[in-house]
Amino acid sequence: EQNTRLAGKKMIVTAGGTREAIDPVRYISNNSSGKMGYAIARAAMNAGAAVTLISSSETQHINGNVNVINVSSASEMKSAIEDNFEDADVLVMAAAVSDYTPAKYSEQKIKKNGDELDIHLVKTPDILKELSKIKDDQFVVGFAAETQNLLDNAKQKLTKKKLDLLLANDVSDKAIGFNSDNNQVSFIDETGVFKKSDVESKDKIANELIDIISERID
Ligand code: PMT
Repeated sequence: EQNTRLAGKKMIVTAGGTREAIDPVRYISNNSSGKMGYAIARAAMNAGAAVTLISSSETQHINGNVNVINVSSASEMKSAIEDNFEDADVLVMAAAVSDYTPAKYSEQKIKKNGDELDIHLVKTPDILKELSKIKDDQFVVGFAAETQNLLDNAKQKLTKKKLDLLLANDVSDKAIGFNSDNNQVSFIDETGVFKKSDVESKDKIANELIDIISERID
């Protein structure tokens, strides 16, 4: 389905769960497959946008004219976004970025000594919050992945991260959210929830998102 809703627009989409290395063979990550972000990148491409997809997914693929930048950690994802943000019209952060990373990376594989092993973690920078400080007129969209108090937590994220739009999904439900083909989202802006999708394919949700973005920019 080709159309021109986003013709001439530059869009960054992020997808997948970041991987925070502990040592050369181990990392901390999460269950994000990248399906939601890839669906958005495809929908944006089909709408005529010039898409940069910054991905930490190891399973998803995209065909067509998309600039894919593969990253691993939250810090690599942050740099790749920053390299492209100034020129962008729209950013959609569907990636599940790790909130914490090991304080110290072990150059050698950690040996199995003792019955317990402590790994000390430190906070990663909040990418969306950092970008809100340098934001010009980019339209910035975030997600909120919650297991409780979905809408309250999501509204707080919209405000704290100074987002134009936020999609809240309940990731405690295995039929939607992480790694499923379907999702269900509440679309939130400063007025609150203005639309709630049915449980439907991530491709369908991606197209609804592209409709909303194209109505709201310029
Ligand atoms: O990839 P799939 O398997 O298809 O699953 C899709 C999904 C559930 C991962 C996706 O729909 C989703 O909810 N993505 C956001 C996951 C997330 O990290 O949510 P959060 O509520 O922890 O973070 C809120 C927002 O801040 C997100 O847009 C996130 O990208 C961003 N963030 C988070 C941490 C951080 N250090 N910097 C950020 O910018």
